[in-house]
Amino acid sequence: ELRSEAEACGKIILLGEHSVVYGHPALAAGLSRGLILRARPLDGRGGAMELSIPAWDLDLRLTADSEHPVARACLEVLAYCDGPVTGWRIEGEAKIPARAGLGSSAALSVALARLALPEADARTVETVVAASMAGERVFHGDPSGIDSEVAARGGVIAFARGEGVEAVRLRSPLHLVVVPSGIPRQTGVLVAGVRARRDRFPQVIEPVLEALGALVVRGRAALEAGDTAALAELIAVAHELLGALGVSRPPLDALAAHAVGEGALGAKLTGAGGGGCLFALCDNPGAAASVISAMAEGFPELAASPRTRAFAVE
Ligand code: MEV
Repeated sequence: ELRSEAEACGKIILLGEHSVVYGHPALAAGLSRGLILRARPLDGRGGAMELSIPAWDLDLRLTADSEHPVARACLEVLAYCDGPVTGWRIEGEAKIPARAGLGSSAALSVALARLALPEADARTVETVVAASMAGERVFHGDPSGIDSEVAARGGVIAFARGEGVEAVRLRSPLHLVVVPSGIPRQTGVLVAGVRARRDRFPQVIEPVLEALGALVVRGRAALEAGDTAALAELIAVAHELLGALGVSRPPLDALAAHAVGEGALGAKLTGAGGGGCLFALCDNPGAAASVISAMAEGFPELAASPRTRAFAVE
């Protein structure tokens, strides 16, 4: 049996992507109702499980011989949950784009776990996260788990590998503009690239990872104190340090510079980088709206979907 409906959050990593893989802390915000999954039995037809998420151009049959990573990840989650692997159709309504650094894979595995786990387990966030991680490992090799944690919990979280999660209380809401670069990328490839650079130049790259960790500690204090100016400065530093890790790209740097030139307080890439999204921190909803229109004017190709959007993080 699957439950008829379940949802999960998308995510924005505010600070600490990549360094989180090495045990440093990170801060992430959930984008609520990022993905809703609905399941119905394939009456009388039995057969393979079907998964369709039109917004992500996904229409798959989940069969044991499928090589599609989404099918393999979903089957891992279903196996972890002891859920059915045939006879159901699952349809997804997605508000976040796929493969853009907004946690689409974690949202999928968390929502799927909530459809398939027994009732009590589906309400236990630790079990949902563990089931989600079974899918995330198919996509990303050795994920830190921050994407699954925020997809399952929402809100703003502080996370460190092996140390767990804390909810973070913001002194004042954050006004973020999320800008998709439209450049596809793969988290696993980017994480492996950082590891290779660290292995080549440990004395150089370890201090960068340390600095990103220190920046998260200071950034959390700024969030809790409502010190937006300090947060904006740290966001700008984080973007530069991520560049030093090799995960920024010229279009991401150009988008960040444009957002700041048009009134954002600070901007950085978010998630694995290499493409995907960046976000700009703005003073208020009015400033966010004018950054959105300035981005569309400066980069008309952004008008294509997925679109630049404002989110208030509370
Ligand atoms: C991806 O959203 C975040 C990374 O830090 C990878 C991870 O934490 O597993 C790049």
